[in-house]
Amino acid sequence: MRRLGILVSGRGSNFIAIADNITAGKLDAEIAIVISNRADALAISAAKQRGIPCHVIPSKGKDRVTHDAEVIAVLRNAKVDLVCLAGYMRLLSADFVRAFPGRILNIHPSLLPAFPGLDAQKQAFDAGVKMSGCTVHFVDDQLDHGQIILQKTVPLMPGDDVDALSARILEQEHIAYSEAIGMVLRGDVVDHTLEKK
Ligand code: GAR
Repeated sequence: MRRLGILVSGRGSNFIAIADNITAGKLDAEIAIVISNRADALAISAAKQRGIPCHVIPSKGKDRVTHDAEVIAVLRNAKVDLVCLAGYMRLLSADFVRAFPGRILNIHPSLLPAFPGLDAQKQAFDAGVKMSGCTVHFVDDQLDHGQIILQKTVPLMPGDDVDALSARILEQEHIAYSEAIGMVLRGDVVDHTLEKK
């Protein structure tokens, strides 16, 4: 069974969707560890409730390289095959990216390369686009950047506000992430940018 390490900072709905898809037999993998950089992340209580191993590694007051080294050590100890960022609101150091080449994924609530960074749904809404969505991509050391694996489009509807749009995108995120993880674990897609380095 392939082992996932999931990195979170907050609510954890993408982590929960992955866990539920595994339980439902839609994704052939197991969650080896959930790691949060914040002790108050709801994702941590959700992991505990489900009996999934979890670990808090506070990032506050630490430089990026020191914090990342601690996270890498826990992921290696848990023998993960794939690292999934699920609302992990931190940029990874180059050391982190090199530690798991082609084996780190992220989900972002826009059609990248449009609207990277914070509040992507609000950025899309304010720009007046008619179509947005979500993207699962391989991670490099730039923010919300790297080879795209899968995207799901979501239309903006008349009368939408940012919350309605965010909820519609989140529904698709919960489907897209497990699909993309399955594609990578089966070897259907690989990170071709690694060949150029
Ligand atoms: C999700 O919408 C995810 O796409 C976004 O944070 C949210 C986390 O929600 N990630 C980013 O914006 C990454 N730049 P969750 O904690 O409920 O999964």
